[in-house]
Amino acid sequence: MLTIHLKSAAAFVPEKEWAAQQEKALQALDTLESRTGKGNAFLGWLHLPSSITDGQLAAVQTVAAQLAGRAEIVVVIGIGGSYLGAKAIIEALSHHFASLLPDRRHPLVVFAGQNIGEDYLAELLEALQTRETACIVISKSGTTTEPAIAFRLLKRRLEEQYGKAGAKDRIVAITDASRGALRTLAAQEGYATFVIPDDVGGRFSALTPVGLLPVAVAGFDIAALVAGAAAMSRITSERSVNNPAVQYAAMRHALYAQGKKIEALVNYHPKMHYVTEWWKQLFGESEGKEHKGIFPAGVDFTGDLHSMGQYLQEGERSIFETVVSVGNERSGLTIPADDQDLDRLNFIAGKRISECNRMAEWGTWLAHVEGGIPVIRIELPQLDAYALGGLLYFFEKACGISGYMLGVNPFDQPGVEAYKNNMFALLGKPGYETQTHRIRETLKRLQ
Ligand code: PA5
Repeated sequence: MLTIHLKSAAAFVPEKEWAAQQEKALQALDTLESRTGKGNAFLGWLHLPSSITDGQLAAVQTVAAQLAGRAEIVVVIGIGGSYLGAKAIIEALSHHFASLLPDRRHPLVVFAGQNIGEDYLAELLEALQTRETACIVISKSGTTTEPAIAFRLLKRRLEEQYGKAGAKDRIVAITDASRGALRTLAAQEGYATFVIPDDVGGRFSALTPVGLLPVAVAGFDIAALVAGAAAMSRITSERSVNNPAVQYAAMRHALYAQGKKIEALVNYHPKMHYVTEWWKQLFGESEGKEHKGIFPAGVDFTGDLHSMGQYLQEGERSIFETVVSVGNERSGLTIPADDQDLDRLNFIAGKRISECNRMAEWGTWLAHVEGGIPVIRIELPQLDAYALGGLLYFFEKACGISGYMLGVNPFDQPGVEAYKNNMFALLGKPGYETQTHRIRETLKRLQ
């Protein structure tokens, strides 16, 4: 399980402020657990991990095995919370170069519907041409444009390749229980389906079939993932200032009150990139409301030390960092000695690469703290399904607490509609006629 270290962030916060924010975080935890706060119709995720039954996991495994038996590539279609959880977990647990390995035991999982890239979709269809393919389409509302476009193309491709009946056996839809276009389509076409519970919003759905089915298809241990999350849900339910989710939320707000309005989630492990992307969506969409909220940014170190490192060290002092530090890399690779030593690296010959990375982490930590950046550190013992389940749940819980501390509804996303309305009006969607003229005129003035 993870450990949180706050000492080098606490140094930037007056003691009184820290005590007040801890109290506020405990009250927010009460509001969350008693289900009396804003958006309380969307708290199905709160104790979800411990309520998932063996039967539910087995149902996911069965469908995953069917897809794996029929396809070498499974395209997962979704956007936002309907894709980032699965993407983050699969990337974190996969071999870095999985697509290059011969003799794959599990299908390759690729993603679509998370953009409207014409070339992206065309090149995907091109790449799938001679491959055995299946598709998991995920949309809670069932009406989101990006995945709907991707699915229309994939559906047509699968029907051309396998006929309507064959395609049906290679498509699984994950959507709302009864509403939405995808539910209607799935019922009409006879697709296998899983339900996204009404009370679980997209960005809190990684531990529902939305995340579990793609992860199971990729061959990872969903039972361990859920067990890690369940253990973390018990730890973070405790009404205590030692509760790590309370500590994290309280420290974020203590720093926010000191003018630290940007949080950079930092990793030193390349497999963590999409965990950061998932975290950005979770916190950005949950907290950025009413002209308030900490801006969630992400950096991959050490690579980004050669780009964002300069800004972090010497730019505006409005940033704090949260480092997710992963221990225990497995491969044991060491730096070889070289007789000539032209690159002058013999001083580290024989050392593990992970030790060099660790020293980069400590060196950066010190430079940043001394340069005026508060650093929160979250230590993950190793990168496996259990630890990852715990980490995702930890962030979900901290996000709920933090959103309530901010005074917003962390479980809605009204701001996302603005771009959609403009796009629909510009594309001439029926029902948007009155807006089209105004939007075109405004665009002309601004362009
Ligand atoms: O977190 C959220 O609610 C959003 O990011 C949604 O997941 C995203 O907009 C996709 O929505 P849907 O699943 O309805 O297609």
